[in-house]
Amino acid sequence: MPPVRTQVAIVGAGPAGLLLAQLLDRAGVESVVVERRSRAYVEGRIRAGVLEQGTVDTLRSAGVGERLDREAQSHAGLSLANANHGFRVDLAALAGAPVTVYGLAAVQKDLFAARDVGGAGATVLDEADGVAIHDVDTARPSVTFTRHGAAQRIDADFVAGCDGAHGVSRTAFPPGAQRTYERRYPFGWLGILSRTPPVDHELIYCRHERGFALASMRNPMLSRYYVQCPVGDAVDDWPDERVWAELRARLPGDAADRLVTGPSIEKSITPLRSFVAEPLRHGRLFLAGDAGHVVPPTGAKGLNLAVSDVVYLSRALVAHYADGSDAALDAYSATALARVWKAVRFSWWMTTLLHTFPADDGGFAARLAEAELDLLATNEPARAAMAAQYVGLPL
Ligand code: APR
Ligand code: PHB
Repeated sequence: MPPVRTQVAIVGAGPAGLLLAQLLDRAGVESVVVERRSRAYVEGRIRAGVLEQGTVDTLRSAGVGERLDREAQSHAGLSLANANHGFRVDLAALAGAPVTVYGLAAVQKDLFAARDVGGAGATVLDEADGVAIHDVDTARPSVTFTRHGAAQRIDADFVAGCDGAHGVSRTAFPPGAQRTYERRYPFGWLGILSRTPPVDHELIYCRHERGFALASMRNPMLSRYYVQCPVGDAVDDWPDERVWAELRARLPGDAADRLVTGPSIEKSITPLRSFVAEPLRHGRLFLAGDAGHVVPPTGAKGLNLAVSDVVYLSRALVAHYADGSDAALDAYSATALARVWKAVRFSWWMTTLLHTFPADDGGFAARLAEAELDLLATNEPARAAMAAQYVGLPL
């Protein structure tokens, strides 16, 4: 096949890649998105569903907010619990904004649907095998891959690496050009989805000596629950009955009494880790979203950080084409990382606060966490600091 020429080649059709394509298309910048998986697979992934107000505003202004405005739930607060005693954090009163609960699968579907009806300015090529990125040190980078048996090449001005935590983009950085920071936590989250009414109309995050638990939801008849599990556990170690029993034990008493159980319709285990790569740019290659940084799901920041990266990157690319200014492209890595590190810190803090650590030093860390939860329960400025970060720092 002859090479395709575009302005921005985007690797990965997760929320970062598809939203970047959409924002660029609306600003008249052309792109081609290359995705390893099938569209159906990408649309089916079930992940965190808490959107910051800035994320909601961005999706709306990108023209993909219609179903979100119809179906998403706005949450003015959340609950934190310690050993079965819960208290509420009034996000709207303390931080001036609610959060919006809307599943990532729904965000993906809306973004793909926008490509179906959108202009020809952004094409998505799914099921692309062996994607490789070339010549990012030059003015003519390219992306090659095989699709449905045919070798293809895309020549672009820029490449956006939006291919998540296990993508290829980072390997296009020469040795020594990027530094990485990582923390692995000694536990995972076992998540289940069930067609049962949620235990509460807001999220409940629980610390318990048996381990962390989270009660979340997707809609009034679809619940999403998580329990902390040892790092080596497999899904088969967690039959539904065991998950429900742990939730009943770890949730605050009144919520546990309301828990409606039923068969799980999805069950998976996610290991928890924090990871940041610096810088996010090499030559004409720019990383955005999980390709550049990963947070544990405890603060629900992963998707929101992908969106803030893409907002900065789209503005910078649009400025390049509109007025030839590369100042924002040059500043992209530092601008994005300044926001990323604060969310990395917040996610680490919430994780440390709410989980039990197997190698706890004689119970010292557990006592500190209990003291901090008591501080949050009784001290409004402490709650306000948490609320400001949970609803999202300004973009
Ligand atoms: N070639 C092409 N595509 C690839 C490759 C590759 N070599 N490797 C990965 N991909 C694709 C994946 O199949 C996936 O669809 O890149 C996409 C990356 O999407 P995500 O992992 O969702 O990452 P991102 O878009 O940065 O979204 C970040 O949103 O997924 C939620 O909360 C989650 O933190 C995460 C956030
Ligand atoms: C979810 O509903 O999947 C969810 C909610 C909050 C989190 C993480 C995941 O912090």
